[in-house]
Amino acid sequence: MESETSMKKIVIAITGASGACYAKRLFDYLRGKAEVHILISERGQELLSLELGIKKDYFQQEGAILYKNNQMNVSVASGSFPGSAMVIVPASMGTVGRIAAGISSTLIERTADVFLKEKSKLVIVPRETPFNAIHLKNLLTLDQAGAVILPASPGFYHDPKSIDDLIDFVVARILKHLEIDQELLPPYSPQ
Ligand SMILES: Cc1cc2nc3c(=O)[nH]c(=O)nc-3n(C[C@H](O)[C@H](O)[C@H](O)COP(=O)(O)O)c2cc1C
Repeated sequence: MESETSMKKIVIAITGASGACYAKRLFDYLRGKAEVHILISERGQELLSLELGIKKDYFQQEGAILYKNNQMNVSVASGSFPGSAMVIVPASMGTVGRIAAGISSTLIERTADVFLKEKSKLVIVPRETPFNAIHLKNLLTLDQAGAVILPASPGFYHDPKSIDDLIDFVVARILKHLEIDQELLPPYSPQ
C-alpha cells in the first residue's frame, strides 16, 4: 500500500441511477491505491441497497472518507483540494441536469461544479436508455465544460464470461481516465 501522502485523491459520487455495481467495483479496486472520498445522494443510497444489498457505511468501514450530501463546507468541494479527480458513477439524468444547469445545491453538484471551474478531471458515467434531447443537451454541455462523458456501456470484444467481466470493462475505462494503472482489462490488440 502506498503512503497516504503520495496517494492520489479520488472522489467517487454515487447517484440514483442503476449501476451501483460500477461504483462498488471501482471503490474496491482503488482501496489501498488511492485516498477515496465518497459522496452519495439519497436516491443513490436506495439503489446501493436495492441492487447490491449494501449501505453507505460499507465504504467508511472499508477505509473511505464518507460525506453527507447536504454538507457543503468540506475539503472536497474546495478549489484547493489538491491532486484529485472526481467520477460520478452511476450518474442519474437528474444529477447530470442539475450540474449542467450550475445548480450546486448538494455536495455532489457543488463538488462537480468546482472540479469543472478548476479544470480538474471530472468523469461522468451516465446511465439511462434511451436518452431524450434534454439528456443529450445536458451531456453535451458538460462535455463542453470539460467533463469526460463515459457512458456505462460495456463492449463485448474482450470475450466476457460473466457480469463481473462486463462491469470490469466499464471500470477499466474509468480508471484509464483517472490515470490509474489497471489490470482489469488487457489492452485491445486487433488481430
Ligand atoms: C429503481 C430506480 C432506478 C432508477 N434508475 C435510473 C437510471 O438508470 N437513470 C436515471 O437517470 N435515473 C434513474 N432513476 C431515477 C432517479 O433515481 C431520480 O431521478 C432521482 O431523483 C435522482 O436523484 P439523484 O440524482 O440526486 O441521485 C431510478 C430510480 C429508481 C427508483
